[in-house]
Amino acid sequence: MDFDVSSDWHVADPYGFLRRLRREHPVFRSEHLGAYVLTRHADVRAAYGDPGRFSSEGSLTISRSLTEQTREKLGEHGSFLSSFVANVDPPDHTRLRRSVSRAFTPRAVAAMEQRFRELNEDLLDRIEARGEADFVRDLGHEPSVKLTARFIGVPEADEAFVRAHVKDWFQLFLSPQPAERQLVLADSFLEYLDYVDRLVAARAREPRDDFTSLMTGLIGKELSHREVVELISTILLGGNDTVPNQLGNSVLRLLREGIWPVPPDKLTAAVEECMRIDGASLGSFRYATADISLHGVSIPAGSLVLLSTDSAAHDEAVFAHPDTFDLDRPNADGHMVFGYGIHFCVGAALGRLQLRTALEVLGQRLPGLRLVPGPVVYRKSIVGRGLTELPVKW
Ligand code: HEM
Repeated sequence: MDFDVSSDWHVADPYGFLRRLRREHPVFRSEHLGAYVLTRHADVRAAYGDPGRFSSEGSLTISRSLTEQTREKLGEHGSFLSSFVANVDPPDHTRLRRSVSRAFTPRAVAAMEQRFRELNEDLLDRIEARGEADFVRDLGHEPSVKLTARFIGVPEADEAFVRAHVKDWFQLFLSPQPAERQLVLADSFLEYLDYVDRLVAARAREPRDDFTSLMTGLIGKELSHREVVELISTILLGGNDTVPNQLGNSVLRLLREGIWPVPPDKLTAAVEECMRIDGASLGSFRYATADISLHGVSIPAGSLVLLSTDSAAHDEAVFAHPDTFDLDRPNADGHMVFGYGIHFCVGAALGRLQLRTALEVLGQRLPGLRLVPGPVVYRKSIVGRGLTELPVKW
């Protein structure tokens, strides 16, 4: 048996398979992924903590399924995100991380709570009377997309454009696509990069109080133009996609467990345990910089390695009864769904704040929220877990 990105179980329910790997093949060579997969919590953590041997250089450029024609069209952008902070090692990483962290101070993050609450309330004002919705399409995305757009400095009129293009981009690089579709998505991606380029130029001329202006002001000092464009493009992805995916997974889990609305004193615990058991991120890729021997397996230098945080979060050596949802689990935050070590998610506090606030407001406004019975379908992806739709009533 092997991972299989084109099958449902790969994202929906890989846990029996992962359990067997943790026990029998803690270092698993996946032909399908073209990578060695680390599945034990201790090994995943140690690899994250050892960037010298497990390099991030090019680790997000996992677009091996792109055709020659698509690569040609993408040109220099085929080496997608070569300067993005998560895709480089020190010393570049240290410099980029320092710059980006300036925008994510605890104060700046806390200041976004009120705005996010209003965005949720405003959406519910428009939808509440309907009595039913597709959670993914109608409820899960809009507040995060709008918050991120405001944070970056994307004008409201361009939000729909950005949202559509980020979706195409995600599909192009992170899920296998037929050749014809790749070309359409590549065009969309190039159009998006062009848009971000123009946004940067506009803020260079006339700075405002937003992330783009803050980063643009560092061009020529700490950052290059390309680094700023890639940073902005990817943070739009982080905000537009990961948080809504995690929220959808969390709402599905809480409704299935019959924990709705979540009691106010359990909101933080619910966010953490939902992330642990149904994480929106399945893991991170790294490249071995030297021959590595682990549990009797030789990983040759240059190999791609997947640090499976999804498996680590279900490791029975760390989490008792890992497949049981437990709001009182003392170490739920020991999951590594936000990564670990020097690349630990810079948006983690903002992500947690959004998840907590959304669950709180949704619980207050839609206390009768329930699932519409039917099959649950996940997106087919190498690195992310998210639902394609989630019909609900209240
Ligand atoms: C639930 C939501 C989120 C999840 C599950 C998530 C997950 C992750 C993971 C696993 C990493 C580590 C990547 C690696 O080590 O290769 C990471 C890094 C990163 N995340 Fe997030 N993220 C989330 C939300 C956000 C948000 C809201 C933002 C920004 C607004 C963001 C921005 C970033 C950035 C810039 C990095 C790179 C940090 C570095 O390389 O030093 N993330 N995220």
